Amino acid sequence: MERNEFIKSLGLGVALVCTGSCFAGCGSKGDDPQPGNPGGGNPPAGGVSVNLSTQLLTVGASLVVSGILFIRTAAGNATTSFAATQAVCPHQGGSLGFIQASNYIQCSLHSARYSTGGTILAQPNDGGTTTALKVYTLTMNGDTLTANG
Ligand code: FES
Repeated sequence: MERNEFIKSLGLGVALVCTGSCFAGCGSKGDDPQPGNPGGGNPPAGGVSVNLSTQLLTVGASLVVSGILFIRTAAGNATTSFAATQAVCPHQGGSLGFIQASNYIQCSLHSARYSTGGTILAQPNDGGTTTALKVYTLTMNGDTLTANG
């Protein structure tokens, strides 16, 4: 095989691998986006869980697991002591974080703000508009808190 032919075949192989990775990532189950809300898909079957014996120990603590933002809003290990929303902003996909001092969720990209219940408190600062966050129902089993669709 000539050097040029080898390089061409190598390039085609890399392109196929990259294409395959994209298709695999785009088609994963549990990533069922709502129209207009790219981060608001359903969790995988069985939900997404956190271990409360080691995680979310203090009021105001937050944690992102598998695209879900878990927030401890009160003391005690009851489902009412937590909130779980999508972790990616519906506007343009910025990362969402919980601002404990102000008790709201804020986007890192255009500073849209949301309540822990997912309602919009402030629109993006770029003049665009966002939509409410997907909020996940929670179940508790011992120290395991699980977010479901
Ligand atoms: S991406 Fe979140 S406010 Fe724009």
